[in-house]
Parts: sequence; C-alpha cells; structure tokens
Amino acid sequence: MITIRDLHKSFGAKQVLRGVNVDFVSGKTTTIFGISGGGKSTIIKHIIGLMTPDRGTIEVNGITLDAGSKENLYKIRKMVGYLFQSGALFDSMNVKENVEFPLIEHTKLTPLERDRKIERSLELVGLKPREVLCLYPHELSGGMRKRVGLARTIILDPQAILYDEPTSGLDPITSDRISQLILLLQRELGVTSVLISHDIKESFKCSDYIAMLFEGRIVDYGEAEKFKNSDNEIVRQFVDGSADGPIKFAND
Ligand SMILES: Nc1ncnc2c1ncn2[C@@H]1O[C@H](COP(=O)(O)OP(=O)(O)O)[C@@H](O)[C@H]1O
Ligand SMILES: [Mg+2]
Repeated sequence: MITIRDLHKSFGAKQVLRGVNVDFVSGKTTTIFGISGGGKSTIIKHIIGLMTPDRGTIEVNGITLDAGSKENLYKIRKMVGYLFQSGALFDSMNVKENVEFPLIEHTKLTPLERDRKIERSLELVGLKPREVLCLYPHELSGGMRKRVGLARTIILDPQAILYDEPTSGLDPITSDRISQLILLLQRELGVTSVLISHDIKESFKCSDYIAMLFEGRIVDYGEAEKFKNSDNEIVRQFVDGSADGPIKFAND
C-alpha cells in the first residue's frame, strides 16, 4: 500500500537517508527498527508530506506524493493517520475538542454525526466517552493521552496509521495495552500500520514485518518471527541491545 523508492534526505551536510527502499504491506503492521537519530521519523514524515525528498518517490495507494500536487497531498493526508512521537494534543482543548478537530477540518458532518464518531473512536481505544470528554490533556495520564491521540488519529477512518514511538515514556503495562490496541485497530479497521519503536518486545508482539534501518538504508526486511533469530549482525545487535557491533552511536 505504501511504497518508498530510493528515498534520499540530507539536512545540511548530514546525509540521513541514503536510498531507502521499502514496501509497507496492505493491512499489515511493519515496524522500523533503527538507532536514535537514524532517520526513522524522517521516513514517516515523508509519507505524509511533512518533508520533501531530495531524491526518490513515495506512493500511497497508487497516489504519488509530489511537491507540486496539493491535491495528492490532501488525499494522502486523509488516508493516512499519524500519531506523533509526543502525542501532541492541543493543551487548550478538552478531549472532545481534540478528537473532533480533524472532523471539523476535513468533513461536513453535522454536530450529532460528529458526536457519534467521537464516541466510537474513544470506545475503540478503550476510553469511556462520558468520563473523559470534558477532561483537558493535563488531567490525563501518559497512557490516556496516547489513547486520546490515537482516537483522534483514527477518527477519519484512515487506511493507514503511522505510529512514531507510541509507547515511549510509558510503563511496561501501559505499553502493552497500547500494543494490544495497535493489534486491535489493525484487526477491527484493517489498517496498514507503520510503527517506529525501540521497544523490541512490544514490537514483536504487534508486527507482521520488520524493516531494519541502518546508515540511511533498509538493510534487512522480513517477517517478524524470522527477525527474532536473524543472522544479520546489525539486526542481532539491535535486538540484543548490545553496544558492541556494527551499529555505532549516531554521532560517531
Ligand atoms: N527538520 C530537521 N532539520 C535538521 N535536522 C533534522 C531535522 N529532522 C531530523 N533531523 C536530523 O536527522 C537525523 C534523523 O532524525 P530522526 O528521523 O528524528 O531520527 P529517529 O526518528 O530515527 O530518531 C537526526 O540527526 C536529526 O537531528
Ligand atoms: Mg524519531
């Protein structure tokens, strides 16, 4: 469903992506593994046109993202939901207003129709609408904030969801609930999911495929099960969490 070909991106003299080739399979969850600062967020920001490639192409459901076409960009943004690394709720809006926001931006639904969608979205992420609708972000726990962010992400019925470190900063139990949610949404909504995570255990739980990003390229790709016992030195080091091996610190 999402195809990336020969994606290059530099920031100043720093070459971050040096020819990324990867397909994100329709209806499945693919996790991108890679070191901090390696360019994972950069890849997914390209998918929704928050960044433009220096070279290469991105296609979502047959629609090519190109800087010249605002129409294609709009279509892709409607199809692809994005859960920001920070969760990024609007602090001055309560839960209802946060979740409702994309509906007001992108649809002509009536207030009553919007209410129904908000309710369904919150229920899908395991929140009780009546209890949370009027709360403000600072009144929510970290896990709840992620879930509200997720409710907002799914409210436009996206065909794909991009998750940028959805469990970072959460305790193991809450992380596990978020992973279960990712699985549930994939099954209930049939969405194509792209996940960035440093949480190896959680990644294996909810991924069908894994892509290993190293030095600006995808150096290994395969079924999650096979990745657990990969012979690839880079994958082994990442999965074992070892400081020794081909992967060096980003600044080395
Ligand atoms: N908008 C930007 N301007 C300049 N440098 C950036 C920008 N976005 C990312 N970078 C740099 O690109 C590299 C990759 O960043 P990122 O994609 O966020 O990595 P990851 O998500 O894998 O941790 C980092 O060195 C980061 O500092
Ligand atoms: Mg990142």
